[in-house]
Amino acid sequence: MGIFIPEDKISEIRNTADVVDIVSEVVLLKKAGRNYVGLCPFHSEKTPSFTVSPEKQIFYCFGCGVGGNVFSFLMKQEGISFPEAARMLAKRYGIALPIQKISPEQKRRITEKESLLDINRQAMDYFCNALHNSSAGTKAVSYLKERGITQDVINCFNLGYAPGGWDNLLNFFVKKGISPVFLETSGLVLSRKNKNGYYDRFRDRVVFPIIDVAMQVIGFGGRVLDDSLPKYLNSPETPIYNKSRSLYGLHLAKRKCRESDTVYIVEGYLDLLALYQHGVENVVATLGTSLTSEHIRLLKGYCRKMILVYDSDVAGIKAAERCIDIFWKEHVDFRKEYVDTRIIILPAGHDPDSYIFKFGSGAFVDAANTAPGIMSFLIDAAIKKHGLAVEGKIRVISDLKAPLSAINDRMARSLYIKEVSEKIGVDEGSIMEKVRDMSDRKQAGQKKPTGVHHIALEGFPKTGTLNSESDRGIHATENRLERQILTMMLQFSEILPEIKKRNIIEKFKDNTLKSIGSMILYRRVGNSNKQISDILAFSDDKEKRSLIAHLAIGDDIWDREGCLRLISQYEASRNRRENSLLEKIKAAEQNNDNELLLELLRKKQNQARKRH
Ligand code: CTP
Ligand code: MN
Repeated sequence: MGIFIPEDKISEIRNTADVVDIVSEVVLLKKAGRNYVGLCPFHSEKTPSFTVSPEKQIFYCFGCGVGGNVFSFLMKQEGISFPEAARMLAKRYGIALPIQKISPEQKRRITEKESLLDINRQAMDYFCNALHNSSAGTKAVSYLKERGITQDVINCFNLGYAPGGWDNLLNFFVKKGISPVFLETSGLVLSRKNKNGYYDRFRDRVVFPIIDVAMQVIGFGGRVLDDSLPKYLNSPETPIYNKSRSLYGLHLAKRKCRESDTVYIVEGYLDLLALYQHGVENVVATLGTSLTSEHIRLLKGYCRKMILVYDSDVAGIKAAERCIDIFWKEHVDFRKEYVDTRIIILPAGHDPDSYIFKFGSGAFVDAANTAPGIMSFLIDAAIKKHGLAVEGKIRVISDLKAPLSAINDRMARSLYIKEVSEKIGVDEGSIMEKVRDMSDRKQAGQKKPTGVHHIALEGFPKTGTLNSESDRGIHATENRLERQILTMMLQFSEILPEIKKRNIIEKFKDNTLKSIGSMILYRRVGNSNKQISDILAFSDDKEKRSLIAHLAIGDDIWDREGCLRLISQYEASRNRRENSLLEKIKAAEQNNDNELLLELLRKKQNQARKRH
């Protein structure tokens, strides 16, 4: 919800709320030195790596790399936005938030959303009541029973029934004084073509309320009880319902997703209910839309392993291709810890619902355990489709070059290229060339990446020379030094004037680290611990916050002399790099100075020869 909370109230909340308090509500914390440790609530683990620092008011998990301050913790734990977290904390610590400061327009939108949620909740109760306590409802109950759904699951998911007739729900609300115009915004009623009057959207259907992780009823789906069409009707997009951001069942699945670090993604309401009923509770359904990056981002808050379940190759391939795009191209995780995505294609004629009822949960879990990764699946699917004759191989490569080029992690990409090469018997070089053509074309049409995206988007080097061992070595050392410098700046603020004077941050190679560095300089305050929480509050990006918490959480001991040594070491390394031949080659290459480039490459060759 877009609620405006003034800056001074945010800092009041920040200064009052205690991260140890808040974390303790969900994690059993034990004192360990100056910090507390416990089992991470965001991934499953047996030995505690979740660390909370009362002094710095931050947390960091050495297992899964999530970190931040009290706000980030609540946002992740509850799946809520920053203002919502702030509101929760304010309530808990008795800090009054002025409501009059929001603009009338903002106020109207908030009220509208709250009213829509309220209407939906009442509608859900109405549908539930109609299912259980009306004579027409019994045939809906019979239908669900016929489909094998138990009373438990009916209750768990608040299933309901929309009675036949054109205006049952409409009249229910009008009697309560709610205007039909507003009901139309909620999507529960529609206005008649001739514009005089309204009618119910859901009529004589089983109703599936769509509930989000904050337990708000955001929309509905409805299924007919027979073979009539359309089989399903859904709420339209409304101010509170965005299909590409909503997943059916996540409110009940989230706990199991976290525990098992896995989620199953299916397409239909009844597929989900069938799996849930068979004990596969970590399941969500996309609702008549394809999987979006927002869905993935939402799920990434709960688990790292995602298993797509599809009922045909065609649908599976389409979904897998989209996923590769979403997972790899948008991947900006600084730790490069990728989501593990697998896919199950069910035998012909089955969807998850029919499959699990026929073969049981054991068979389903077996299928999950042997499910291939999405890239391997795409490789096999292309081979199956085109065969391995010469023409076939060409088509296989052409099918695969887009998904391969979407993988922006060099090592992963070259491993997959190797897999393709082995499977179809074409040398890696030729495949790589095709893929590279594709990436070049894509990058040409792309905006210049900014910030952390930059790391994720860098493509193949133009020539092999730039990727030599020594080049990577320098890079890794510099990255390590840059991280150390930030840690020092976060934990020993006395050093900041020196960093500023010597322009150290400007020299940083890594854009993410660089932006954190300038943030630290910009937000400089007297006390180190205060400074850390200040910077976290100022940082807008989840990944960056985790990184900052990671750098800051240790209890390193700094003295001025050691700090100065570290700074000099970094400067020396940067200077070496600038003078290095490789750097010159890179520059010549970028400037398209071919003559110079040739000369430099020749020099490099000579050096190498001398060394041998
Ligand atoms: N869907 C939809 N509108 C339709 C058809 C389908 O929104 N007209 C969505 C629903 O969320 C549905 C999912 O797509 O659950 C899958 O549709 P489909 O495979 O056709 O139905 P099943 O889930 O198999 O439904 P059932 O088993 O009830 O026939
Ligand atoms: Mn089905």
